Amino acid sequence: MEVVIVPDARSGGELIAEAMAQLLRRKPDALLGVATGSTPLPVYEALAEAVRSGAVDASRARIAQLDEYVGLPADHPESYRSVLRREVLEPLGVGMDAFMGPDGTAEDVQGACRAYDSALAEAGGVDLQLLGIGTDGHIGFNEPCSSLASRTRIKTLTQQTRVDNARFFDGDIEQVPHHVITQGIGTILEARHLVLLATGEGKADAVAATVEGPVAAVCPASALQLHPHATVVVDEAAASKLKLADYFRHTYANKPDWQGI
Ligand code: F6R
Repeated sequence: MEVVIVPDARSGGELIAEAMAQLLRRKPDALLGVATGSTPLPVYEALAEAVRSGAVDASRARIAQLDEYVGLPADHPESYRSVLRREVLEPLGVGMDAFMGPDGTAEDVQGACRAYDSALAEAGGVDLQLLGIGTDGHIGFNEPCSSLASRTRIKTLTQQTRVDNARFFDGDIEQVPHHVITQGIGTILEARHLVLLATGEGKADAVAATVEGPVAAVCPASALQLHPHATVVVDEAAASKLKLADYFRHTYANKPDWQGI
C-alpha cells in the first residue's frame, strides 16, 4: 500500500486528478470509479480544471458509481446519480450514456445489485476506483463487519453514517435513507487501482486502522491491504495517528506509482 501524505485537501485533489489525467491519456475510454461525499470534491474540481485548460480530454471517459441510496427518486438532488451528474459528468463533458450505476429505485433490489456487478464486468472492470472513507472505516457503504468478499448488495447504514450524512439533507437525519446499494468489498477489490482519499482529523482513527491495523471486517477499508495496487492519499490531519508517518513521508511523498495500473 502506498501512503502519500499531502499538506492539505487541495493538494490531495490535484495529485489524484493528475493520476486520472495520466490514465486518460494512456486509455481515453478508461472506466473511472467515483465516490460521492465531500472528500472527493477537490479531485473533481482539479480534473475539471485540467479538462478546461486542455491538459486532458475526458470526453471518452466512462464513469461508474460506487453506491446509491435506496428509495430516493433518481432525480432527487441528493441521489448519488444526481450528485455525480452535477459534480463529475457535466464538468468533465461526459454524457449520461457513458455513466453506469446501480438502480436505487428498482423493485427487485437484489436483481439490480446482480445486474450492476455483471455490468461492471462486461464493461471490462474499473480502471481506477476513487474511494473516500467513513469515520467508521467504511468504503462505499460497506459498514463495519461487511464481508471482505462481498458483492454489490443492499446495506443498512449505521446511525453514525446517517448522522454524518445529514448535512446533505438540511441537517435532518430523518431525511437520510436507511438503505443503500453499494459495490461490495470484493467488487471494489476488482478495480485495477484503488485510490483512497481521506482528509481532516475526523478520519485519523479510520486511516490508522486502515493502514496500520490488521485486515479486519470491523474496518472495511483495511481490505485495501489485500489489493496489489492501492494508494492512500491523506492530508496531515488525517495522517496524524499514523505511527509510520515519517516513513511514508520519506518513501512516497509525491512519488506514488501511478503507472502501476
Ligand atoms: C460515498 C462513499 C462513502 C464516503 C464516506 C466519506 O459514495 O463512498 O464511503 O466516501 O462516507 O464521506 P465524506 O467524504 O463526505 O466524509
